[in-house]
Amino acid sequence: MHATMTLWIIFAVAGLTVLNRVTGSPAETITPDDANTSAHPNRVLETVEGEENIWKPTVVVVVEEAEEEVMETGELNPSHYPAQRAAKVVQHYINTRHGSPYKVFGLQRVFRANAEDVANSGRKYQLELSVQEMVHNMTVACAAEVLFPGGEATEHSPQVQVSSCDGLLKINASAQEEALYQKYKMNQSLSTENLPDSNGHMEPDHEPFWHLGMVASSFVMLSESTQSTLYNMAQVENATQQATENDQLKIDYHVLLHDIVSQEIIPWRLVVTWSPLEGVKVQKMEKSPNCRHCNKPKP
Ligand SMILES: *[C@@H]1O[C@H](CO)[C@@H](O)[C@H](O)[C@H]1NC(C)=O
Ligand SMILES: *[C@@H]1O[C@H](CO)[C@@H](O)[C@H](O)[C@H]1NC(C)=O
Ligand SMILES: *[C@@H]1O[C@H](CO)[C@@H](O)[C@H](O)[C@H]1NC(C)=O
Ligand SMILES: *[C@@H]1O[C@H](CO)[C@@H](O)[C@H](O)[C@H]1NC(C)=O
Ligand SMILES: *[C@@H]1O[C@H](CO)[C@@H](O)[C@H](O)[C@H]1NC(C)=O
Repeated sequence: MHATMTLWIIFAVAGLTVLNRVTGSPAETITPDDANTSAHPNRVLETVEGEENIWKPTVVVVVEEAEEEVMETGELNPSHYPAQRAAKVVQHYINTRHGSPYKVFGLQRVFRANAEDVANSGRKYQLELSVQEMVHNMTVACAAEVLFPGGEATEHSPQVQVSSCDGLLKINASAQEEALYQKYKMNQSLSTENLPDSNGHMEPDHEPFWHLGMVASSFVMLSESTQSTLYNMAQVENATQQATENDQLKIDYHVLLHDIVSQEIIPWRLVVTWSPLEGVKVQKMEKSPNCRHCNKPKP
């Protein structure tokens, strides 16, 4: 076993939590484990049942264990951070493969997690987890592997392999997708901001574009994730449809991503195309240079 040097760092910061019971999106609150700080307190991602469409600041307390370059190996506690961070990457991966304006997946639970060092290539997590499709409120259980590249490749994106996801293909949103597509293909009129707004509201017409913004953000979050990040999309700042000559809808998004671990709010611009046939594609992703929303807490 490794001798680990453990530091306890406590961040208490105002975070953003979306509670949305209509679409069943998981809202995440991180709470300290007051009862037993001898166990790893860096855990707990619980789904909060809340009022409809609430967008409000909440106090998020993250208790993070910082170890000296030594990560836990073997069977992991499924509710602790290392397992949750790896599982979150699987959520983003599933969104990039299966997401649409009517299909968006959130991490629901981790049942089992195992981590091992793989010689010369990094660290591999084997996971059993469930994701929830928020629009139809359907739960899907999946088995997946996530490899975080190591050595000189640590800057590279994690590699994900999903070996099974029971019921994923049964979620059929094709009628809703086709109706949305026809509407906005004929009339390229989408232009909106603040999904949701500071009161948690959003016009029902705009909800599919909020979902599409989440799915597109998962492309960024998948590629930016490491073993020490935990990303969520906080808000669509604005979304503007652009005219296209081809069969795709094209939307220019400005989104705010939230890394729960560092407490950074990171703005990105995404140019996204979508059609029921071609699915979601991110044509352009760029981190916005002016980080006026970044609210890193002072130590
Ligand atoms: C989603 O489904 C679960 C279990 O099937 C149920 O308990 C829950 O109330 C549902 N949520 C919504 C918002 O419909
Ligand atoms: C605290 O956690 C440790 C390690 O998981 C466990 O062995 C111990 O029984 C726990 N103590 C209490 C009071 O829950
Ligand atoms: C999805 O539902 C539509 C009708 O809304 C049907 O035509 C189509 O075959 C279904 N697709 C799958 C894969 O079940
Ligand atoms: C196009 O959409 C705009 C805004 O939603 C609406 O005001 C306008 O009437 C629509 N035009 C047509 C031809 O449907
Ligand atoms: C969208 O938000 C970004 C960042 O705040 C801003 O730079 C851009 O001008 C906005 N676009 C529109 C169309 O409002």
